[in-house]
Amino acid sequence: MAKAKTNFVCQSCGAIAPRWQGRCDSCGAWNSMIEEAPNAGAPPALTGGKGRVFALLPLGGASEPAPRVATGISEFDRVTGGGFVPGSVLLLGGEPGIGKSTLLIQVCGALAQQGLGVVYISGEEALDQVRLRAERLGLAQAPIAFAAETKVEDIVVTLRHSRPPALLVIDSIQTMWTDVVDSVPGTVTQVRGAAQALIRYAKTTGAAVILVGHVTKDGQIAGPRVVEHMVDAVISFEGEGARDFRILRALKNRFGAAHEIGVFEMTGRGLAEVINPSALFISGHAEASPGNAVFAGLEGTRPLLTEIQALVAPSPLGMPRRAVVGWDPNRLAMIIAVLEARAGLRLSQHDVYLNVAGGLRIAEPAADLAAAAALVSSLTGQSLPPHCVFFGEIGLSGAIRPVAHVATRLKEAAKLGFTHAVVPPAQETGAIDNMLLKTCADVADLVALIAAP
Ligand code: TYD
Ligand code: MG
Repeated sequence: MAKAKTNFVCQSCGAIAPRWQGRCDSCGAWNSMIEEAPNAGAPPALTGGKGRVFALLPLGGASEPAPRVATGISEFDRVTGGGFVPGSVLLLGGEPGIGKSTLLIQVCGALAQQGLGVVYISGEEALDQVRLRAERLGLAQAPIAFAAETKVEDIVVTLRHSRPPALLVIDSIQTMWTDVVDSVPGTVTQVRGAAQALIRYAKTTGAAVILVGHVTKDGQIAGPRVVEHMVDAVISFEGEGARDFRILRALKNRFGAAHEIGVFEMTGRGLAEVINPSALFISGHAEASPGNAVFAGLEGTRPLLTEIQALVAPSPLGMPRRAVVGWDPNRLAMIIAVLEARAGLRLSQHDVYLNVAGGLRIAEPAADLAAAAALVSSLTGQSLPPHCVFFGEIGLSGAIRPVAHVATRLKEAAKLGFTHAVVPPAQETGAIDNMLLKTCADVADLVALIAAP
């Protein structure tokens, strides 16, 4: 008799292999293959002749904008694109201890206080623990329905007994399991099965669902990478352990702009909104010391000023150190190479450290010019002009290239008391009052400008 066949499933990407492998062929993860029972063939609907006749509608024509359920926590609503869309499913990822449960209790509390039904299911904490946290957040009396459960069937059956809530929070998806799948809880197959059941619940009842997902050290949402493709929005909650700032970032959003951010501060009474984050990230710019440049950036649709700090020092090592916090190390290597090749700077005998102040992570190429300015300033010991912001992308030829949304960046800088900006040439800037613009055609121009401001 044939032996019941099992598969080996990569817990990182969900790829299936017939036998165990040390390294997944598909995503390259090490030690990620776990033996699981195979899924039972194709669903019966595909093999039988039974199906439902549905109407096909013209795609053209007017449609109403999706209704939204706003929480009133404006930093949160901004990231979701103006509030939850009923029936949508959102994945909130973040490292353990970053404050996901705290944020979601606050969100539940805000909705409950508007008289909306909210259900919070925890697979990690008991009633007393969550109650204690709610008390600390001043939400002890908020009408939030709570249960400590992990079996998805039980959760869905229980919820179907009453009117669907406006919001269902599942904390966390990794602790959920379903009978349908014959694997250990926490494996990719279980997480996918549980997520599927909860997504179906959301779509059929119109309840918005938030799934909490833990991320691993390298920033992936552990195990259920696959869940990212199934949900409507993926939001990550990040921050540096030692600091109190937390950034909520939309990585994907079917109902709003991606890359939108919300900024919070962890206080003794939960997460407080930071309404003007630019002031926070550049608080130290007053003492204009060499190596500090202010970047006028954009996160989603929101302008954000950040301080980029560089330290360039002669290296005692044969292979100088390059260390970056908050920026792409490859990008730094490229800027260093361009400064050497196109502006004649000598950095090959120097250690180079680059830090984005405040624990922010910048992904925009427009930060190139500010990073280069910080590097040149540190190398030459020449402080950058005070009250000056930088933005522009640097090409391999050394030319500074235009970037988008210049007026928004300049307006934010002017609002915070900056008076000068160094910008790419031929940039359509729009007139901003009291803002003096200097254009920089290439990196050699930048070096000259810093030497003689
Ligand atoms: P938590 O929401 O449990 O994190 P997660 O669900 O992402 O694992 O947050 C845990 C941290 O937040 C914990 O270290 C304590 C801190 N905290 C505060 O500083 N103030 C507060 O009011 C609360 C509730 C938590
Ligand atoms: Mg938690």
